[in-house]
Amino acid sequence: MFNVLEARDLAPGVRYVRIEAPKIARRRKAGQFVIIRATSDGERIPLTIADSSTEEGWIALIVQGVGKATKTLNRLEAGDAIPDVAGPLGMPSRIERFGTVVSIGGGVGTAIAYPSAVALKEAGNQVISIIGGRNSSYVLLEEEMRAVCDEVYPTTDDGSYGYHGFVTDKLTDLIEEGRHLDFVLAIGPIPMMKAVAEVTRPHGIDTVVSLNPIMVDGTGMCGGCRVAVGGETKFACVDGPEFDAHQVDFELLAMRNRAYAGFENTRRDEMDQECDRRQLLPVVPEVTA
Ligand SMILES: Cc1cc2nc3c(=O)[nH]c(=O)nc-3n(C[C@H](O)[C@H](O)[C@H](O)COP(=O)(O)OP(=O)(O)OC[C@H]3O[C@@H](n4cnc5c(N)ncnc54)[C@H](O)[C@@H]3O)c2cc1C
Ligand code: FES
Repeated sequence: MFNVLEARDLAPGVRYVRIEAPKIARRRKAGQFVIIRATSDGERIPLTIADSSTEEGWIALIVQGVGKATKTLNRLEAGDAIPDVAGPLGMPSRIERFGTVVSIGGGVGTAIAYPSAVALKEAGNQVISIIGGRNSSYVLLEEEMRAVCDEVYPTTDDGSYGYHGFVTDKLTDLIEEGRHLDFVLAIGPIPMMKAVAEVTRPHGIDTVVSLNPIMVDGTGMCGGCRVAVGGETKFACVDGPEFDAHQVDFELLAMRNRAYAGFENTRRDEMDQECDRRQLLPVVPEVTA
């Protein structure tokens, strides 16, 4: 069992969960993830290790509640325990001294971009961060990014905070202002990562994205996370999850991720109904002797 040391809300439906896992904390590198089961009969889901402490023996996850498994995880509080946490899995991020890099996070993608931004800064890069959200509530980890990056640009789709527009609009502005960019790392929803690839492609800027296909075993055995990169089949869990953005077949990725949409919607509805029933349960007064 893995003890939950801390759990708190970061944004609506997005939770920071810190777990006691000394062996994983010792070995993990930026860009790696764990496969987790929130309950002993639950689904196995991949989550990026957002932060860790070797000295204190913990890892931190940032979880967006989108379906049954993530919403179950987001109900946990400090003092609870998680049955299975396997990792670290996947290839670490490509961390080099590139020069000027842009780290782009969309929504919960910022949680995945954050550890790589830290590592890129430590490697001696000038790090510009663009962190986007639907509105001000969904701009995550701004303070943490400001602590490690040279420039941070929050963006919102509705203009409620920071730059009014998509992360790609801000990236386009930087390029049009004549900023020399050596490397771009983009993590977020599939359409966002695809759009970033199209912005940087004509300028020949080395660009990497972190893919989010369905994963089951996380060890290259099940084939669930198959993606096409440069016309070749890759397994995101062992060959990735980060790949050259200009080589990824995003349409195939989106199509494969939609394959279980009906089943996922049913499980999510069941989960929401279960929550509603719990709220309707009568409150039984505590009986004391
Ligand atoms: C390498 C990797 C790292 C990730 N890191 C994070 C993270 O740090 N924080 C975070 O909130 N989310 C992260 N995700 C996404 C997270 O795994 C999914 O949101 C989660 O699996 C959804 O499960 P669910 O049962 O709650 O929702 P479901 O209702 O089952 O699914 C909702 C959506 O999540 C995706 N999904 C479902 N199951 C899986 C699966 N087994 N593997 C991948 N995607 C799936 C699908 O696109 C689906 O449409 C990561 C995904 C990958 C591949
Ligand atoms: S998750 Fe099974 S092969 Fe990658």
